Amino acid sequence: MRHLIDILDLSVEEIAELMDVASDIIENPGSYSEACRGKKLATLFFEPSTRTRLSFEAAMYELGGHVIGFSEAQSSSASKGESVADTAKVISCYADIIAMRHPKEGAPLVAAMNASIPVINAGDGGHNHPTQTLADLFTIRREKGRLDHLTVGLCGDLKFGRTVHSLITALSRYEGLRFVLISPEELKLPSYVKKEVLKARDIPYVQTTDLEGSLPELDILYMTRVQRERFFNEEDYLRLKDSYILTKDRLRDAREDLSILHPLPRVNEISVAIDDDPRACYFKQVLYGKYMRMALILKLLKEAGRL
Ligand code: CP
Repeated sequence: MRHLIDILDLSVEEIAELMDVASDIIENPGSYSEACRGKKLATLFFEPSTRTRLSFEAAMYELGGHVIGFSEAQSSSASKGESVADTAKVISCYADIIAMRHPKEGAPLVAAMNASIPVINAGDGGHNHPTQTLADLFTIRREKGRLDHLTVGLCGDLKFGRTVHSLITALSRYEGLRFVLISPEELKLPSYVKKEVLKARDIPYVQTTDLEGSLPELDILYMTRVQRERFFNEEDYLRLKDSYILTKDRLRDAREDLSILHPLPRVNEISVAIDDDPRACYFKQVLYGKYMRMALILKLLKEAGRL
């Protein structure tokens, strides 16, 4: 059974194929409107979400399928003590594919080990968020026409930001990538990502606290929110939450062809005045995420012999 738990579960070639399918869906939506007729997606969200859950649901509806599920742990039998393993076995009796978000790192992997249908990790703790990465990669390819030979700045909470960990891992497989890691000292990229991804693949990177000074060299700026829900104390969060706020003034020295991405939700990191700037890509990124999730659902259902 094929699942998507980590972005490395997909080869570079498979990701390119998913992007080609997503592009075709954009061009020919009618050809896909019955593709999942009679199939059911279960969205098991043990943690809050707007984009990921609703884009999975929109994706399945646009493929002609159905959606069942829950949006908080309290409304599921997890609140009575049911395990993730048992939940996965039970949902396998009702649905054809699962998208799961969970606050515990590794929970979707446990679900995959116990389910008899494909499981997609829709975000696990501060660990991974592979379908956000599919959205990010597709946005970069649509904006830049390539995924190689880019200088990518990642700014904000690089410690707890699971989208950052998945994106660096994914981009590390393309030629000529260089990373500028912009964060407060306390929110630096975890050592395991540096060791297992950047150092292991000999990928050039710099760590800095300086956003403005880094901007002129960037092709991509990936802003992130400080992840309040992962902090152990509120005081630290309040001290660090506004470390970086991208304003029109701060963009003065950025390149004309810079692409600004953000996985959203945004809190304060990007001034709303930038939303109309042609370099702002974060709402397009949301839409591209839905198309990539459609392509992914099709792929996993086909490989499971359910289409
Ligand atoms: N980008 C993202 O994961 O957003 P949600 O938390 O709203 O799903």
